Parts: sequence; C-alpha cells; structure tokens
Amino acid sequence: MSYTVTTGTTSVDCGPEQPILDAFLRSGVWMPNSCNQGTCGTCRVKVHSGSVDHRNSPEGTLSQAERSDGYALACQATPCSDTSIDPPAADEVATTHALRDFVATVSEVRDIADDTRRVLLTLDEPLTFSAGQYVEVTVPGGSAKRQYSLANPPTEPKLLELHVRRQPGGVASEWLFGTVEVGDRIDITGPYGDFTFDEDSTGPMALLGGGTGLAPLKGIIRHALALDPEREILLYHGIRTCADVYDADFFRELEDKHPGLRYVTCVSRENGGDREGYVTDAFVKDVSSAKEFTGYICGSEKFVEAAVKSFKRRRMSPRRIRREKFTAAG
Ligand code: FES
Repeated sequence: MSYTVTTGTTSVDCGPEQPILDAFLRSGVWMPNSCNQGTCGTCRVKVHSGSVDHRNSPEGTLSQAERSDGYALACQATPCSDTSIDPPAADEVATTHALRDFVATVSEVRDIADDTRRVLLTLDEPLTFSAGQYVEVTVPGGSAKRQYSLANPPTEPKLLELHVRRQPGGVASEWLFGTVEVGDRIDITGPYGDFTFDEDSTGPMALLGGGTGLAPLKGIIRHALALDPEREILLYHGIRTCADVYDADFFRELEDKHPGLRYVTCVSRENGGDREGYVTDAFVKDVSSAKEFTGYICGSEKFVEAAVKSFKRRRMSPRRIRREKFTAAG
C-alpha cells in the first residue's frame, strides 16, 4: 500500500517497502543524503505525524531514544501511514537530479594501481548528475548493491568512470576483479549524494583525496576547469605506497594545460611520491591561509576528520568544506 509523505508544502507518494529518501529523490525533491546505507545519519528526519518502520536502521546511527523522540533515517525507514516530516533546513537545499534506474554496458576494465581498477560503463540513456555524486551498482546474480563515485564530469552523461579498490572477500570485488567482462549488462541507480561541486563558488579550491577518494575529486576538477580554465586548484592525493598512485599522467597533463592547477601525491608508508607523509601535513605546510578557499575531501572516516582539521587550522570556513566519507558495504 502506498502512503503520502509530506514535508513543508511538498507531498510525495511512497510505495510499499519504499524508503522515504528513495521516494523523494525519485520525485526530484531534495532531501539531504550521503551514504544511503544507514551509516552516516545525514538523512535523519523528524517525524511529526504518522508512523514509520525503521527497518534496517542501525542502532549506532539512530538510537532507541532517538526513535522514541520521533526521529528516523529516511534512507531506511518506510511509512506505515500517511506521514509528515521536517523539511530540510533552507541552507541544506541542493539541486536535485531525479533518482532513476539505468542499464549500462561495461565498456572497459583496466588495472590502474595495486588492487585498483578503472571501470568504464556506457549507459543506454544519459544520467543527469552533479560533479562529485555517486551511483549504486547492483552486483549481477544477487541483490547486493555497491556505491561508486563518478570520476567523470556531468558533461559526459552516458559514460561513467568508476575507480574500484579491491576488498578481499567482498562480493563486488569478486565480481569486478574476477568475472566481470566487457559487454556485461548491469543495473545502476543514481545519482545519489550531496558531495557536489559548488558551481557558485569562484575562489581557489583545495581537494584532499585518500586512495580511490580521488574519483569524485577528478570529476569535480574536470568540471571546475571546464567552467574556469584559470581557476586556482590544489589537489593532494594521499596513498600508502608508490604502487597505489594512479592517474598521475592524467593530472600532470592537466597541470600543463591549466597553470592554476597543482597536483601533489603524498605517500605515507614509504619513500616516494611528490611528498612523503600525509596530505594533511602537506596542505598545512603549503598553505598559510585558506580563508578564501572552498574545500573538498573524500576518503575514509579518519582521513576526512584529519583533513577537516587541517582545513580549519588554515582558517577555511566550515561552510565551505564539503566532504564524503567512505562507508563500509552493508
Ligand atoms: S544514513 Fe541515510 S544517507 Fe546516510
């Protein structure tokens, strides 16, 4: 049975078993979201009237006390009646590209670093998205879904570039590092996420990526430079070993074309790269004041926390810091 979920003056039909977030995004109505797995808490909403089934909402993200107080995770909860929830705060409202299902063909699979692959997908129909967003891929032969950031800009709406890190024993890794073949047809849903390029910003940008956290930063940089080829952009890529470096040639060539771009690799566990040590230390050393900067960070939870601290140490406004944390597969 379908129910109506209302926020402010907007109402959306929510189908049986359909999470509230899914219903809103498919209707093109913005709702803050990041992981779509119940782990980040970004989609937490207050339920004012009606009731919801919290389904797989983890205790660690939404406690029993919070449930009793009327809170829910929109990416997990389904309505059990017509329901009314808090609208997002005005400063959270972002452009929404309606969530849709797509079919794609695997067009290229290439090893680009240790245990890291680039997977290119060609969509049957164009996907409208913002630079930095991600898609959810259904692993063939089951119901497992995995999220991958898009490393290409939205001006390439039918070609999706994914950077995939092998997770030993992971069902998606078994497929993408094993049986996947060019020509395979796969199901995709997207776009998701609020880690997006701020097209209204004009000043310098600093981007810190850990491992395959480089993926959305690549899409953002390509889009930013297409809009303003002179833009001042600092990109720091943090990896553990030299064998983890990838796309260095791509960024060196981009540096040659765009004098405002500076690309720095930071290797933390051995000698090598442009710098030895952590990206956060390199950024703090290189930039005396980041007051005018907009910052983008993507990586593990620890990486993101450290990067936010380094941005704040250099006086970057918290409102100008955008971040995306990798979350463990559900
Ligand atoms: S907990 Fe719902 S989007 Fe992360």
